[in-house]
Amino acid sequence: MSAEFPVARPRRLRRSPALRRMVAGTRLHPADLILPMFVKEGIDEPSPVASMPGVVQHTRDSLRKAAHEAAEAGVGGLILFGIPAVKDARGSAGDDPDGILQVALREVSAEVGDAIVVMADTCLDEFTDHGHCGILTESGDVDNDLTLERYASIAVAQARAGSQVVAPSGMMDGQVGVIRAALDAEGFSGVPILAYSAKYASAFYGPFRDAAECAPQFGDRSTHQQDPAGPLEEALREVRLDLAEGADAVMVKPALAYLDVIRAFRDEVDVPVAAYQVSGEYAMVEAAAANGWIDRERTIMESLVAIKRAGADLILTYWATEVARRL
Ligand code: PBG
Repeated sequence: MSAEFPVARPRRLRRSPALRRMVAGTRLHPADLILPMFVKEGIDEPSPVASMPGVVQHTRDSLRKAAHEAAEAGVGGLILFGIPAVKDARGSAGDDPDGILQVALREVSAEVGDAIVVMADTCLDEFTDHGHCGILTESGDVDNDLTLERYASIAVAQARAGSQVVAPSGMMDGQVGVIRAALDAEGFSGVPILAYSAKYASAFYGPFRDAAECAPQFGDRSTHQQDPAGPLEEALREVRLDLAEGADAVMVKPALAYLDVIRAFRDEVDVPVAAYQVSGEYAMVEAAAANGWIDRERTIMESLVAIKRAGADLILTYWATEVARRL
């Protein structure tokens, strides 16, 4: 091809793997990744989660082993979810010092807490018999302020058990402020809060509700989680409130369907932004790959790069250990 002026050739920088690697604008690092893990009380063997191939409900032993593996792979953090043997209306296991999550936090942080950040999801849905994220009124609504008292107590129990970060995920108004005050009052002013600031009422959580056995027995979470069609300003309002209440890092959830919210957060705030690649995002890729319809590894990496490029500093992903090893 001849031209009177040099033709622009962006392809020059794509000619070899080494060139592409050198000019890459988005790099994943194992320390960016956070592994969500489930631990179930009273089981002898890890129990596979049918809708999340490769993910299990751990025993205390298998949890410790998997936590070591994540730490060895260089994964930045773990976030633990507990499934108690007994559930009740107020989620008593959530702040019981001998509750499964507290026991697991103690064991895991004692073993790997120097090598990897051990965190807890701070919510009630795994612990309530009705599966809702809070205390219910007689008419079956989640009572915001009664729930806040429970969250404060749960966060303190988690910190006491060795959780190095608490991550309130219930989307109650005022939850970050109440938890901050309770942690400070109990001597845990050094424990950061990773706030699930923009958490949408998403169909992508479906498989998680099997994994954590927390599907609501009636109704849904759309009076507290954000409407997927809600305005972007609503997410920005939530994140500003969380920061004003003392959040140390903020989260968007789910990830791939909300890349615009991740970008908006990154441009808006001056704290780390995390994104949660949720159970449904995981299950879709695993299911398609199992059918031979997509290239599993490439799809995983591409989705993570997209989330990072959108502005996430940290990514919660069920693939954390596998991906960290590959990086
Ligand atoms: C609430 C919580 C949920 C998830 C994380 N924390 C479930 C929900 O809001 O219904 C979902 C995570 C996932 O889907 O991977 N404790």
